Amino acid sequence: MEDKLKELRRRKEAALAGGGPERIERQHKAGKLTARQRIDLLLDPGSFTELDMLVTHRCTDFEMEKQKIPGDGVVTGYGTIDGRQVYFFAYDFTNLGGSLSVTNAQKICKVMDLAVKMGVPLISLNDSGGARIQEGVDSLAGYADIFLRNVLASGVIPQITAIMGPCAGGAVYSPALMDFTIMVKGTSYMFVTGPDVIKTVLQEEVTFEELGGAMTHNATSGVAHFAVDSEEEAILAIRELLSFLPQNNLEEAPRRPTTDDPHRMDEALNALVPDNPNKPYDMKELIRLVFDDRYFFEVQEHLAQNIIVGFARLDGQTVGIVANQPMVLAGCLDINSSIKAARFIRFCDCFNIPIITLEDVPGYLPGTSQEHGGIIKHGAKLLFAYGEATVPKLTVIVRKSYGGAYCVMGSKHMRADYNLAFPTAEIAVMGPEGAVNILFRRELSKATDADAFRAERVEEFKDKFANPYVAAEKGYVDDVIEPKETRPRLISALRLTATKRDTNPPKKHGNIPL
Ligand code: HXC
Repeated sequence: MEDKLKELRRRKEAALAGGGPERIERQHKAGKLTARQRIDLLLDPGSFTELDMLVTHRCTDFEMEKQKIPGDGVVTGYGTIDGRQVYFFAYDFTNLGGSLSVTNAQKICKVMDLAVKMGVPLISLNDSGGARIQEGVDSLAGYADIFLRNVLASGVIPQITAIMGPCAGGAVYSPALMDFTIMVKGTSYMFVTGPDVIKTVLQEEVTFEELGGAMTHNATSGVAHFAVDSEEEAILAIRELLSFLPQNNLEEAPRRPTTDDPHRMDEALNALVPDNPNKPYDMKELIRLVFDDRYFFEVQEHLAQNIIVGFARLDGQTVGIVANQPMVLAGCLDINSSIKAARFIRFCDCFNIPIITLEDVPGYLPGTSQEHGGIIKHGAKLLFAYGEATVPKLTVIVRKSYGGAYCVMGSKHMRADYNLAFPTAEIAVMGPEGAVNILFRRELSKATDADAFRAERVEEFKDKFANPYVAAEKGYVDDVIEPKETRPRLISALRLTATKRDTNPPKKHGNIPL
């Protein structure tokens, strides 16, 4: 027995040692933790159970039989985060560069299947040189097996990924198919073709960071959702994100008890929206004044800042917030903000998270770049997302609600459950100036004092239409409230919608305008 135990221990120790002290040191010198250090940070102490620790690859080409390390470049298993189960896989860069072999793809697929079967979130920590070159097409097959599972798990369990090193070539598509991507500034990058290929094909010089670093994918491409300064912060972001989410699509998000009074009315809200409708204010301040403990966990904060999305809690319950930001591009809707919000809404709808819309939008951004870029199709994504969502939908029209933006931003007509407006709301087909220029074109061209004539008509239009009362008279908003009432009103509506039942017509799936 002693011999047998020795052999078992020897094998396990070899797996724990990964690529050995030299490669671990190289990993640390590159500013990165090892897979096992990351897992230690991720999971509750003592909760980690490893699977397939003794798996080795079966490749014999390129003398690979001489390079076998148990675990084969990926650490997989399960454990708890704040007492709730998760499955995960973490690439081990010290072991053959964390490259993907047939056998480590099988390890990954195993935890993915288990996560779906058990209804438990899946987390991946990426740090890999991509397809294991020595294994050729077998490695590609392994990637495809993972991608398929990402697709099938989508909408069933939350899938969260952190990029903590290289993620190149087809390897980027597993993260891209997941729900949230966190990138570490300075040490992580993602691209389909790297700087060398770009130089050869296009004679373009670009650094790894510029091409696919954390800020590129957070502020420009929209591939990632969070940019953090360190691996520790990336792990904290995963843990925090999970605290807002249910384990799967059949469960509700956990409640977090709060001491923040559900009846709290903040006088500051009544003074937040400026009298001058052209003056911006910070929608994030409104969010802080309304939601529990002034806390907001923003998603994609660097992208399309004219729209704000993220999670908060109301009386302890997770909600998804979609809010226009008048401080950026006057809060108008454009291609990027439509895509950003549509994706967030669809995530919330998958996982039973009520959506709260805070609206102040003058309309869609005009211009050839928007039209030629397909604002029609991308704007339609937002309509599609709001229209198909069956979770509770509550809307507050804070100020502007003009044109198509009125229709799209959680209007009653998109099946919203409870729609409120502030007295500062302006709900009309278009803004007063634009409307007067069209309706009185002929009169304006003949008027002796066109400016005075226009100003008069604009005032008339404002009195008649740029208010919430026309919509309220028609029942298009359920009530006009004092801004300070927002928190208690939303909480009471949220309690009411807890038993909401709504479905879409039976179909295989809709055809969102991609
Ligand atoms: C096998 C690999 C590997 C790979 C790295 N290694 N990538 N082994 N297959 N894809 C090994 C190295 O040989 C080395 O082994 C160790 O991992 C660390 O690599 P280094 O190059 O020393 O590290 P570093 O300088 O940090 O550079 C990291 C890197 C580089 C930029 C990722 O390794 C690299 O360019 N790798 C190849 C990337 C690539 O082209 N992959 C294929 C992408 S195409 P030792 O023994 O020295 O420690 C793809 C297709 C997927 O993935 C398609 C799916 C649809």
